[in-house]
Amino acid sequence: MNYRHAFHAGNFADVLKHAVLTLALETIAGKDKPFVVIDTHAGRGRYDLAREAQRTGEWQNGIGKVLQSAKPPREMKRYADIVRGFDRRLGGSGETLQHYPGSPRIVRALLRPEDRLVACELQDEDALALRREFAGDRQVETKRADGYAALKALLPPAERRGLVLIDPPFEARDEFDKVQRALKQALRRFATGTYLVWYPVKDREAVAGFKAFLVAAKLKRTLTAELQVGSKTPTGLARAGVALINAPWPLENELEKIGPYLAQTLGGAAGRFDVEWIAKD
Ligand SMILES: C[S@@+](CC[C@H](N)C(=O)[O-])C[C@H]1O[C@@H](n2cnc3c(N)ncnc32)[C@H](O)[C@@H]1O
Repeated sequence: MNYRHAFHAGNFADVLKHAVLTLALETIAGKDKPFVVIDTHAGRGRYDLAREAQRTGEWQNGIGKVLQSAKPPREMKRYADIVRGFDRRLGGSGETLQHYPGSPRIVRALLRPEDRLVACELQDEDALALRREFAGDRQVETKRADGYAALKALLPPAERRGLVLIDPPFEARDEFDKVQRALKQALRRFATGTYLVWYPVKDREAVAGFKAFLVAAKLKRTLTAELQVGSKTPTGLARAGVALINAPWPLENELEKIGPYLAQTLGGAAGRFDVEWIAKD
């Protein structure tokens, strides 16, 4: 396991994932009943942008551009506020960012007192950092665990409402297979949950296979949203997507607002945003 998210924190792919995650959770939190979020590949929860991320500079072309943009749509506001608030809480200015929140911190900012988060991370050092990040927080359980295996034990959740974030490193060639196996099993246990899966668009055949799997699974309200920021970036990743199963309504309207903005702000003339419905009902 070589992947270290610290190098990529706050890049365009994180922005897409975290903006959609924020919108989905805002909608889920709009109803009274408690919910749970399970983050299967949580990372360390916090990234110091002066360290590894500075070496790649990817965040400057991601969250850096979002925070500098003159007129972001209001659908981006909550996410941007969470990022700025997190940086300020750690002593930064909230403008020239020093820290970026990982997915567990973004989720935490959206929990109400009755909601909870379970965050799994397999890599030792990151799992320890994650544990320290949330030490003493009674709404957050961190686990040093294989997120796919943990999912089996965690579903169905007592609340019967919630979101599962699956955000693997995609280092292994069979990662899409692992995601599909995990989804199949998870959907059997918790068919009504919202699932948010992040994926890179590098191997087009593998992505097409994943979409074919989603079609064959006969799901409800499922879509993919892909953001492209060029034909090639220094890291080689220029397009990434999220799949949303049981997408909370009216997320599609919000995607229509943030999509063109993200494509333009992060990709300029080469930017693209494509939403594809797998199942609309
Ligand atoms: C893309 S990063 C996660 C980023 C995080 N979700 C965020 O948005 O801030 C993927 C993480 O998964 C961890 N990881 C790899 N295999 C795992 C597994 N089987 N179970 C749990 N975590 C794993 C890696 O160490 C890495 O920290």
